[in-house]
Amino acid sequence: MREADRRQVTVLFADLSGFTALSERLDPEEVRAFQNALFEALAGVIARYDGFVEKFVGDAVMAVFGAPVAHEDDPQRALQAALDLLDASVALGDRWASRLGQAVTLHVGVHTGPVVAGSLGDAAGAAYAVTGDTVNTTSRLLSAAAPGTILASAATHALTRHRFAFEPAGELALRGKSEPIVVHRVLGALAEPQSARGLAALGLLAPHVGRVDEMEQLVAAFERMRRGRAQVVSVVGEAGMGKSRLIAEWLARLDAGGDLASVVIRRAACSSLGEPTYGVFGALFREAYQVDPEDSLAVAREKLAAGLRKLGARAEEAEAIAPVLRYVLGVEEKAPSDIEPEQLRRQIALAARTLVERRVERDPLVILVEDLQWADAASVDLLRDVADHLWDRPLMVLLSHRPEARPPLGARAGQMAIHLAPLSRDETRALVRDLFGSGPLDGMGPLQDFVAARAGGNPLFAEEIVRSLVSRGALVRDGDRWTTSAEWEAADVPPTLQGLLLSRVDRLPADSRRLLQEAAVLGASFEEVLLRDMTTGGVVEAALERLVESDLIRRVGPGRDGALYRFTQALVHEAVYQNLLLARRTELHERAGRALERATRAHPERLGDLEALGHHWSLSADKSRGARYLVTAGDRARAVYANDDAIRHYARALETLSECPGSEAQMCAGREGLADVLGLVGRRGEALVHYEAVQRALADSGDRAGTARMLRKIGGLYWEAGDRERASECFAAGLEQLGDPGDPIERSHLFQEMGRLAFRAGDNAAAIAWAERALREAAGEESAADTGGRDREAAAMRAQAYNTLGVALARTGRLAEAVEQIETSVRLAEGRDLLQAACRGYTNLGVLYSSLDPRRSIETCLRGIATATKVGDLGFQSRLYANLAVAYCALTDQCEVEGVEAAETAIDLDRRLGLLDHLAVPLIVLGQIHQCHGEHARAFASYEEALALAEKAGEPQLLFPCYDGLATLYLDAGDQPQAEAYLAKAQAVCERAGLEPDALMVLPFLC
Ligand SMILES: Nc1ncnc2c1ncn2[C@@H]1O[C@H](COP(=O)(O)OP(=O)(O)OP(=O)(O)O)[C@@H](O)[C@H]1O
Ligand SMILES: [Mg+2]
Repeated sequence: MREADRRQVTVLFADLSGFTALSERLDPEEVRAFQNALFEALAGVIARYDGFVEKFVGDAVMAVFGAPVAHEDDPQRALQAALDLLDASVALGDRWASRLGQAVTLHVGVHTGPVVAGSLGDAAGAAYAVTGDTVNTTSRLLSAAAPGTILASAATHALTRHRFAFEPAGELALRGKSEPIVVHRVLGALAEPQSARGLAALGLLAPHVGRVDEMEQLVAAFERMRRGRAQVVSVVGEAGMGKSRLIAEWLARLDAGGDLASVVIRRAACSSLGEPTYGVFGALFREAYQVDPEDSLAVAREKLAAGLRKLGARAEEAEAIAPVLRYVLGVEEKAPSDIEPEQLRRQIALAARTLVERRVERDPLVILVEDLQWADAASVDLLRDVADHLWDRPLMVLLSHRPEARPPLGARAGQMAIHLAPLSRDETRALVRDLFGSGPLDGMGPLQDFVAARAGGNPLFAEEIVRSLVSRGALVRDGDRWTTSAEWEAADVPPTLQGLLLSRVDRLPADSRRLLQEAAVLGASFEEVLLRDMTTGGVVEAALERLVESDLIRRVGPGRDGALYRFTQALVHEAVYQNLLLARRTELHERAGRALERATRAHPERLGDLEALGHHWSLSADKSRGARYLVTAGDRARAVYANDDAIRHYARALETLSECPGSEAQMCAGREGLADVLGLVGRRGEALVHYEAVQRALADSGDRAGTARMLRKIGGLYWEAGDRERASECFAAGLEQLGDPGDPIERSHLFQEMGRLAFRAGDNAAAIAWAERALREAAGEESAADTGGRDREAAAMRAQAYNTLGVALARTGRLAEAVEQIETSVRLAEGRDLLQAACRGYTNLGVLYSSLDPRRSIETCLRGIATATKVGDLGFQSRLYANLAVAYCALTDQCEVEGVEAAETAIDLDRRLGLLDHLAVPLIVLGQIHQCHGEHARAFASYEEALALAEKAGEPQLLFPCYDGLATLYLDAGDQPQAEAYLAKAQAVCERAGLEPDALMVLPFLC
């Protein structure tokens, strides 16, 4: 019994118009006899296209194409079946006309969409059925179809319009749906079916990319054939890999070189419905002698004889072929043959050889058979026979087929297989780029990467992914240019590929298929050990081997206790996963989670394992367990400064938690972690929202230390944005929250922050006092606090406090002591791997060293930049670049180029991040450099912008250099009064701050 699954199918409903009236009029036995005849006829047609008769009800039949087994062309099969059903019903009606006393007509509805397919209920013998809205919609289409017509939905139309003619049939309202659906009437099969391949209908044409060696191989085989050595060449590759395209390009190339002038080409393409015995040869000869399938045997014989005469054959030759002609031409005739089977085979072979031989005597001949995997075995044998027999003639048998088919293996003719491997990543990228070749496309780079990653080197997949992006409106044409719109990354398996992908899976034996589904839950790559542990099936080896043989998965290396495997195609992985019922996915994710917990002995260390555990559990019934792992993964990622990953894990944890009632505490932890990283990478607005939410929640639950911590972090955000007043309010509010008995570490944190703020406001005495208080407060805590990360937290605070102390000392002229304190801070931070605290130390040391030892200063700044880059802290990068610029200036020979560059980098970072608190600094540095090199206009501009910011901040260490710099600039420009006015302002700043001008000149920017 087949387990239930989710899949895209094409549903067909057909019933008789006027059946009720018929059954009222006729005897029930007569009705029943007719019904039996009708059902038999309909079932025959449906079976021909490998459809599944889901049920007969009254006079109606419901058939499904794509379940239980998918085909790559299910929608086409359904429409072809629908047309045949109409024909069959007409034929039946004719036979029954006298007994029924009226004509009967079928009407049909066809629709393609998702369903759940499987046995309904657990009872033994439960019927296989499909359910879902797709079925209801099809039944609506049926009711709307007039007698004798077929109505198809837009979804089916889109997948089949290359092979069938349609006319629009308006819209159809559906119960319970606000939007009506668009409907098309099927007119018949197109006389000249188009290829479904390529995006020409969208105005997109891809030039042929790559395949250079393969092309050379074909050209070389052609040359050998021309020299009189028969060649059997097969082009092998998975569906869509580009076999037909390669052959078409090769023919075009020969043609362009004039090499086809005297060459005869015969083509046949095998049908996915399978070929009758000798079907391929029949097609080749019908093409050669222009025999129509409807021609009678007599007409066919005449055409063949005429053709042979033209080739200079003798009359006996045509005669000799006559008894087997209908086989050779595939012309239908009911009469059984009276020749022995073996004798018949030999005669057919002889006839085929003769026909080909006559042709080859005249001109070189290329026999092209596409899709050999669907050919009949007799034709394949015959191809080998002919090639071997004519091994020394200019004959080339060129075949294209999928890897599962076996090409004919001859003994004498030259033999070669050209295997088409997936295109490289770059080739696929080129394919996508060339598709949009004519016009520019915004966001092209990411789109190319996205398609290349998903297509896995299969050009058809690449095209169909693009097609589905267009049909979902994610890629939009605007005049001659294409633009991408939002959400194009949220992709699914293109509807055009669903059948193709699933058909490979449906062909597998049950145990392999089941194992593949379980593997798909583990992920696009998966460890054997986990699969063994989670599987509900029996022996894994054979099933796994089978999957490797089918090229659905590959061994890619060693894993824990076994191999690591990967799905060969990302899209196959997705299709298999989506094939699973939601309930089964949930159950399997739990099994995967448990397997991974066992594999890590419940102590997952690797970030990848934590991430995977978070993934599996958050998709299981125990979501909050998933969220716990995700928060831990976020913490772990943050600890190694993988900021983007951390943000992703936290955000996913929050999403998962929003579905778990009663998880407020976990929610707070996740939000705080997320906000910390968001603040770090400059997304302050988002960080603020999270901190404030957490603050409210903690305040409500009476967690004072936690509330104070949030206030401190919120204050930090305001400060960075240049709003010191609010920052100070937040810190004060935090201290108030804590009260006297409050958490000492948190209190020292707040003291330290107050000290830092006092320092920046120019109150160095207060800064020293706050910092010392912070260190005292934490001193008692340190020995006790060695658990739960509190010791690290305490160390971080102390590193910051030494720093604050150091900069305040520096500003009051106690330079040696200052350096000592900050070096202590850096040692402490480095020892504990507190990289952010270390960055602050490097920043300040860079400044302090710059007057004493510029080279050491440069070294320190560069080290700081490397650390800040590792941490991903753009704010410190900017400060360090500004200080680097100062240090370069001290070394006059490097001032101009490196100095300007460093200052501009800092300015750029500050502007991008909105770090108004710092932007004045690099502007002043740039002003000084320009001034130094006589670039007065540029210097003016920089100072003016800096001054506006400095006045807003009211910070002496910013104001003084602006006033001082502008005073000198005016002096140089001969504007005495202005110069004096600025000098006065500069002096006033010093007096207010109680500092010597030197203290502000030498050590301009400490933090
Ligand atoms: N090297 C290539 N460069 C650009 N486009 C390609 C390339 N190879 C194939 N394509 C395009 O990809 C699509 C699939 O190619 P094609 O039809 O030749 O595949 P196939 O291997 O013959 O598949 P099937 O087994 O289903 O017959 C076509 O639209 C084709 O134009
Ligand atoms: Mg092909």
